[in-house]
Amino acid sequence: MTSRRIIDLLRHGEPGEVTTLCGWVRTKRELKDFAFLEVNDGSSLQGLQVVLESILPGYEELLRSLSTGASVTVEGVLVASQGKNQRVELKAQSVKVWGSADPETYPLQKKRHSFEFLRTIAHLRSRTNTLGAVFRVRNACSAAIHDFFQSRGFLWAHTPIITTGDCEGAGEQFAVTSFNLGQVPKAADQSVDFSRDFFGKPTYLTVSGQLEAEIMAMAFSNVYTFGPTFRAENSNTSRHLAEFWMVEPEMAFCDLEGDMDLAEAFLKHIFKAVLAQCPEDMAFFNERINPTAIATAETIIHSEFARITYTEAIAQLEKAPRTFEYPVEWGLDLQSEHERYLAEELFKRPVIVTDYPVGIKAFYMRLNEDERTVAAMDILAPNIGEIIGGSQREERLDVLERRMTAMNLSHEDYSWYLDLRRYGTVPHAGFGLGFERLVQFVTGMANIRDVIPFPRAPLSADF
Ligand code: 4AD
Ligand code: MG
Repeated sequence: MTSRRIIDLLRHGEPGEVTTLCGWVRTKRELKDFAFLEVNDGSSLQGLQVVLESILPGYEELLRSLSTGASVTVEGVLVASQGKNQRVELKAQSVKVWGSADPETYPLQKKRHSFEFLRTIAHLRSRTNTLGAVFRVRNACSAAIHDFFQSRGFLWAHTPIITTGDCEGAGEQFAVTSFNLGQVPKAADQSVDFSRDFFGKPTYLTVSGQLEAEIMAMAFSNVYTFGPTFRAENSNTSRHLAEFWMVEPEMAFCDLEGDMDLAEAFLKHIFKAVLAQCPEDMAFFNERINPTAIATAETIIHSEFARITYTEAIAQLEKAPRTFEYPVEWGLDLQSEHERYLAEELFKRPVIVTDYPVGIKAFYMRLNEDERTVAAMDILAPNIGEIIGGSQREERLDVLERRMTAMNLSHEDYSWYLDLRRYGTVPHAGFGLGFERLVQFVTGMANIRDVIPFPRAPLSADF
């Protein structure tokens, strides 16, 4: 059975061509001697209009089974469309219904459903216009990411999902075990006897592939990871997931400046690629979801990102013509409201904040000469807040050891990480992009749970 994708028929189909298409019925409109179906196969926002004439054999029965949601293969001939919404439509010669969808129970009827409701039917919601557009754009973003790095000679490194360390040191890990939790083996002192667990020690789902990416960068110079990461933060917000995808480039012989330049070029590349590849979906987001979606994309592509130090950011927040819920004070982390003020109100474009206080950042970040700050950078985006977090890494063995001791981290557990500093150490830097936050940024979708097919969040792991 060779059939053509609808996007191909809409773009290149010519009247007179005989063709076959497969898809799901979105709408049906019955007139006196014929009926219109809109059929969608996920290849584009727009479906193809199919005309069914009443002279088709078994017409009445066919129409009954062709309700919204039914799956069909239609053979017919393309004709120039009378309607103004499409160039061609398909005049059906035969229709095969694979599966009907009872209109009494099929949840996706032709009306607007709330995103909250759609989350409860995540097995069906991809068939809606909005989620369809989101997942096509998500796919285009993935392709653009690989394209960006591959064309620059970066190696895609596959880092492990099960790890023993806590890269970010925030203690937000999910444990991985093969113990029967009802009968966990205990040592004599009643502590859990991990020597009898699957790996012989405590293991977790990774919060970041960075440390292993650093290993790979010390052999391949420039690498990136792109995979799932897990955080057991109990944050029920529109920007947090328990399972999210992260892109983490790591570059040897690179400093913070080079890291920021790459991150900025990277975001611009993705926006450009999505505008070029998904113009119809982006127009849809602009019209239905966020009226500034396309203007935002243009700003990202054409404007330079602002760059300020954390110390300057604190000064700006202190003289902001408004109040904040959380305190602004040198040494405290920036809260979402602070990040959004900087990106949305002060700069009105993405802003890169650098050189954070040593006390609020992870152990691996390079200590600056002032010994109070580290060579860190966060990119803050309008409507999103932090979208990228990165840093230059501490490549000096003695400084790193000092830092780890101060933070109570076992030198033995991280001996392999320290080895990278013992044998052929180089300045290096990298960053992590939250992939779902990127898709939110591109589409303007308000809730992160609506840009990943099967969201995992506190008390929510269905499908
Ligand atoms: O800032 P983070 O914690 O940085 C790291 O993990 C570094 N190891 C990255 C690196 O330098 N290689 O996380 C990176 C990004 C954040 O900026 C944010 O966009 C996203 O990951 N992120 C989340 N996205 C969704 N849900 C969550 N719970 C997230 N936590 C972080
Ligand atoms: Mg961060």
